[in-house]
Amino acid sequence: MACTMCGALLLLGLVLILTPLLCGCTGGGFSVELTHRDSPGSPFHDASLTPQARWLAAVWRSYAGSGSDSPDPDGAVSEVVSGSFEYFMHVNIGSPRTRMLALVDSGSDLVWLRCTNGSASPASPPPAEAGGRSSVFDLSSSSTYGRVGCQSDPCRSVPGTSCDAASFCQYTYSYLDGSSSSGLVATETFTFDDAPGGCTGCRERPQLQVPRVTFGCATTVHFAGNGIVGLADAESSLINQIGAATSLGRRFSYCLAPFFSDVSSALNFGARAAVTEPDAVTTPMVQHSSAVGAYYTVEIVALRVGNTTVKLPSRSPVIVDSGTVLTYLDKELLDPIVEALARSIKLPRKQSPKPELFSLCYEAGGLEVLDKVFPGVTLELGGGALVTLKAENVFVDLLLRTVCLAMAPVTPERPVAAIGNIMQQNMHVGYDLDKRTITFAPADCAKSYPSPPAFV
Ligand SMILES: *[C@@H]1O[C@H](CO)[C@@H](O)[C@H](O)[C@H]1NC(C)=O
Ligand SMILES: *[C@@H]1O[C@H](CO)[C@@H](O)[C@H](O)[C@H]1NC(C)=O
Repeated sequence: MACTMCGALLLLGLVLILTPLLCGCTGGGFSVELTHRDSPGSPFHDASLTPQARWLAAVWRSYAGSGSDSPDPDGAVSEVVSGSFEYFMHVNIGSPRTRMLALVDSGSDLVWLRCTNGSASPASPPPAEAGGRSSVFDLSSSSTYGRVGCQSDPCRSVPGTSCDAASFCQYTYSYLDGSSSSGLVATETFTFDDAPGGCTGCRERPQLQVPRVTFGCATTVHFAGNGIVGLADAESSLINQIGAATSLGRRFSYCLAPFFSDVSSALNFGARAAVTEPDAVTTPMVQHSSAVGAYYTVEIVALRVGNTTVKLPSRSPVIVDSGTVLTYLDKELLDPIVEALARSIKLPRKQSPKPELFSLCYEAGGLEVLDKVFPGVTLELGGGALVTLKAENVFVDLLLRTVCLAMAPVTPERPVAAIGNIMQQNMHVGYDLDKRTITFAPADCAKSYPSPPAFV
């Protein structure tokens, strides 16, 4: 059926389930653009930084967000957000739509966005976005804004809510670094732009509309961003709400392009979140402990470097997180890995710029040099999933002529083992909350989102 009908159908108020099926545009799934916070399209982009300085800033940001001190190597990171926020996506909220840029977090259980009620100004001014675009949602101008009572199911689906004086549902979220967001839980229509090029002959870009999404309408915000899209394994997260409201299922995937390729990555939902590339491996999710909140957790069984296998005495839980930069492992796993790598890689060693984070550095003019001497490294996860790692997943080009291992030990300050986003670069990573699995496959992620960054 002609895709040009999409707009008309949406105007008639027909929703999501009809949209992809009738238009044939989104093919049972959709993809949004995922932008790294340091890339040129991001409001946080600092053109004066070299790629290495951006890396270093990201690593420190990630480490600092875990509650430790936050050294600031180049004076560039004035807004430390948290350890878990590295990527943005656009959401359109309300009727008519307000387009907003929000941070994506696979460990957050709520979607919240900066809100204002008419002329009543928000408690803290939002940071100016690229292009000066409005970055606050004015609930008084939307016809689909829905209030939520404090005894209702949507209110109960959000952790830590309470009743305000008028018996509406209020929430307060605070983050490790002192950031916070509070306001009323409400419902709204959310519209997501599908990637361009998904359907030929479309006059408009296909969109996916989800009515009555429960979200936090944040009127008091101490946070360096306009909102968060939570994709956690929790009732109120976006992925659960899409699953409940549509036929797309509770699954999403992403493909993270190398950070300094300056191209966008893709965040996929529905059928497009199926990881079908050759060499895909699947591991079961395990119950996450309260220590890691709602993060997706799998089990590490072993790591192999060349023909050395390092096994832990017991299976060890590890979160898979796109917002953590380095990979954090138990010392008893990490130390033998470092030894095995040091034995195998014959390059001149270099002093570490921060020994507690980077235990193994080499003098090399880039990852290409390391690539030539890199021994095979394989991560074995629960269920026999063998994830083959490349040099770019294990090492980071940190400073001029310095390449360091992108794995750090779990410490009391940074207590959660995590597979970070360096390790996930150029992999299609799919989360299926119904099957309770995570699937990894090697992929060329620079091609995963079919357009250059479009922040216009
Ligand atoms: C927004 O402001 C109007 C006018 O002051 C008020 O009637 C309404 O209850 C407010 N809405 C919310 C959700 O606070
Ligand atoms: C594998 O292990 C043997 C010793 O058991 C060693 O001689 C050989 O060099 C190793 N091969 C590689 C590729 O590391």
